[in-house]
Amino acid sequence: MSLLVRGAHQVATPTGNGARRGAELAGLKVHPHAVVRCENGRIAFVGDEDEHWRRYGEAEDTLEADGGCVLPGFVDPHTHPVWAGSREDEFDRRLRGENYMDIARSGGGINSTVRATRKASAKELLAATLDRLDRFLTHGTTTIEAKSGYGLDYETELRILEVIRDADSAHPVDLHPTCLAAHEIPPEYRDDPEAWVQRLVDEIHPQIARSGLAEAVDVFCEEGVFDLEQTRRLLADADDLGWRIHLHADELTPLGGANLAVEFGALSADHLMCVTPEGVSALAHSETVAVLLPGTSFFLRSPWAPARTLIDAGCAVALATDCNPGSSPTESMPMILALATLGMGLGVAEALTASPLNAAAALGRADEIGSIEEGKSADLLVLDAPTYHHLVYHFGVNPIRHVVKGGRVVVRDGRLRSQE
Ligand code: NIG
Ligand code: FE
Repeated sequence: MSLLVRGAHQVATPTGNGARRGAELAGLKVHPHAVVRCENGRIAFVGDEDEHWRRYGEAEDTLEADGGCVLPGFVDPHTHPVWAGSREDEFDRRLRGENYMDIARSGGGINSTVRATRKASAKELLAATLDRLDRFLTHGTTTIEAKSGYGLDYETELRILEVIRDADSAHPVDLHPTCLAAHEIPPEYRDDPEAWVQRLVDEIHPQIARSGLAEAVDVFCEEGVFDLEQTRRLLADADDLGWRIHLHADELTPLGGANLAVEFGALSADHLMCVTPEGVSALAHSETVAVLLPGTSFFLRSPWAPARTLIDAGCAVALATDCNPGSSPTESMPMILALATLGMGLGVAEALTASPLNAAAALGRADEIGSIEEGKSADLLVLDAPTYHHLVYHFGVNPIRHVVKGGRVVVRDGRLRSQE
């Protein structure tokens, strides 16, 4: 199966098989008027059209970019995409002055979504997840990390991870599953959180690891949720189970989660709105990717993560949506890039390196996805505009015209192929 993407004004992409840091982050490669040839799901050629015709014959399919800009498909390395219900009532309460943690402590927050999710069948959860994946895809995202975490008991956590597995096989978007059973203290354990930590270590994590349904583990390391010592026990146990690690770190308070993530060689430390100077320095001297989630700061009306400080210190910074019903209900990476640039002070080229390439590194997959280079998976998008700047310059609309996943056109003229 071959596909030729031609007629682009430019093909713009980060380059390399690993995360970029510091000044490298701004080093986007721009190929003017280039074509991209995909063969059997992989990128076979990027460059001048005449050179292409000297090397290859006709392709089986052609996608006309029509003067648009071609970019790598977005990789979203932090999402919570499987849940039932919604929390617009809490959103309104926050707008009128209550805060996120006070709402959570009064029975709302994550536990209100847990109540709705426990009641939902696998079929209902799958349908809601596939709807969200359609929105991810039409906004240019071709791979996501997907956390469980709205079950908080073995049966429901397993059901969520099965939904992630089924969604991965039913939908063009690739899903990388993470077990986040340590997302919150469930209501049954409110008076004895320590017993919940012990239950996770003794039973739930080992059982889920045996199911093979998760590649990685995550813990919400936060004041009033899992403290540093409890997180350390959970991560040590997960390490023994052979899981890779992501960590909700220093989101609402400066607990020191970033240092802990580095200590465990985590793939990523995420959020970091309250990261300490020691945390910045530890991240800068490690392979752990700093995944920033500006949608959460925007939606909670809380401070931005110190993106410039992290970049200038030499950390590998990535961007993600944090798609979830409480703190960032969006599937849109173009929105996240707008917030990363206009809110956190990244340049557009920096944001475009942070999102597909460093995001791929945060999943341990930068050798496979995250840039338009020969040999990588053919995951591309075509913007409805000539240059990559338009991705954030023309804000508040969906600028994605076409999406290619694994060498197949899956969105054409903004519409899912499955719906044509
Ligand atoms: O990443 N921090 C913990 N988890 C989510 C919020 C989940 C929710 O409010 O439902 C987050 O912000
Ligand atoms: Fe999150």
